[in-house]
Amino acid sequence: MLYLIDTADLDAIKKCSEYFPVSGVTTNPTIISREKTDFRTLLYSIREIIGDDKMLHVQATATEADDIVREAEMVKNVVRGNFYIKIPITREGLRAASICKDKGIGVTMTAIFTQQQALIAAKAGADFVAPYINRLDNIVSDGVRVVEEISDIFKNYDIKTKILAASFKTVEQVHKVSMSGAHAITINPDLFDMLIYHPLTYYAIDDFSKDWESVYGDSRVSDLLK
Ligand code: E4P
Repeated sequence: MLYLIDTADLDAIKKCSEYFPVSGVTTNPTIISREKTDFRTLLYSIREIIGDDKMLHVQATATEADDIVREAEMVKNVVRGNFYIKIPITREGLRAASICKDKGIGVTMTAIFTQQQALIAAKAGADFVAPYINRLDNIVSDGVRVVEEISDIFKNYDIKTKILAASFKTVEQVHKVSMSGAHAITINPDLFDMLIYHPLTYYAIDDFSKDWESVYGDSRVSDLLK
């Protein structure tokens, strides 16, 4: 399963990419707007930090198919490299997705809340579908179940479209989605730290230190093997 960072905060992207095994960055209009900065420069900067090989998903804001395609081409020209245009699942979005695929532009169909939205997006040629886990949980639906069923449908029909699960708030959501057949998840930088935190890890590290120091004092492994 691939981990992506769901932010356009450059410092957060830098730090997160330095410490965690991330495969790319996802943004949406809300995430971009939060940065209150020049859009083109922001996209250049994200690409510069992550390099050409990692995925960069950027959402179109147009609503008509031809306009979405034009935006996709323009964003692709700016960000280059491993790029996916994010398109919300609507009639116009589906048409735009097919045209983008014909033009060789990667497509992530986003704002997915149902299994049928995902299947139709896949049939339209989307490379990724992005179901929104926490937003489903918030309406007393079941985000994990939706991902499981999308995964089952894709397996049943040998569909190659990948599931890029989005909208997470808790470690439990990430854990359950990672067992559900999702190929990738995108999470905010704080959640990366929460995924690796466990108090017993720190107890264990403290015990190792105490035992080592009782014999070797302040000397480190590198001091003793010089
Ligand atoms: C990512 O692609 C989605 O746009 C994003 O994860 C939505 O997350 P939210 O529900 O926290 O806004």
